[in-house]
Amino acid sequence: MRIDVVTIFPPLLAGAFEHSIIKRARDRGVVDIRVHDLRDYTDDRHRTVDDYPYGGGAGMVMKPEPWFRAVESLRVRGNPGRAVLLTPQGKRLEQRLVQRLATEDRLIVLCGRYEGVDERVREYLADEEISIGDYVLSGGEPAAVVLVDAVVRLQPRALGSAESTVEESFAEGLLEYPQYTRPPEFRGWRVPDVLLSGDHGAVDRWRRGQQQERTRERRPDMLEDGGGSSQQS
Ligand code: ADE
Repeated sequence: MRIDVVTIFPPLLAGAFEHSIIKRARDRGVVDIRVHDLRDYTDDRHRTVDDYPYGGGAGMVMKPEPWFRAVESLRVRGNPGRAVLLTPQGKRLEQRLVQRLATEDRLIVLCGRYEGVDERVREYLADEEISIGDYVLSGGEPAAVVLVDAVVRLQPRALGSAESTVEESFAEGLLEYPQYTRPPEFRGWRVPDVLLSGDHGAVDRWRRGQQQERTRERRPDMLEDGGGSSQQS
């Protein structure tokens, strides 16, 4: 899979893709991630990416030309890809949407600044608008890190076998069961006896019960979703 991210703050993103599972996926050739500076697609001496809003008002609006130039030049050769604009006005990101995006050959992720992007970018350039939640970030960059991480870990061969079990459980529409490691007692708090029992059947039943109980307590909305094969939409 190829992922291009367009931003006015490339350093905000570069480090985020150089560690852990994303780094390993890149090293293995599972995903090719490239970060592009929107200012490289301006054509004036000051590399201007924003301008005053028509009709007045506070703040600046990101100009359409650099966005169109960036995406069109990335698309020149090969797969056009799906252009995703990150904005709090977009469709809320959930595991089901992550699963769909993970099947694309190519994503072009556009990080807008919160104050605004010219409407023509939304309307005529972005294939899709996505929000990572109902809160306001200063720009799409942290959202791009979230989106890319969630998509990359679903790529075949991105995860080691130990990591993939966690993914399966979440995709089932239940929260994870509690995890413990040594020591068996810490500050008087004991690990549940069943986990020390060596009885694998009992451990499985306990974990499944914990998942259901936890989901009922913390996220009853996930159970109402039909308990299907993915999270609520
Ligand atoms: N830009 C600003 N806030 C955002 C959010 N919640 N999701 C995606 N992009 C954003």
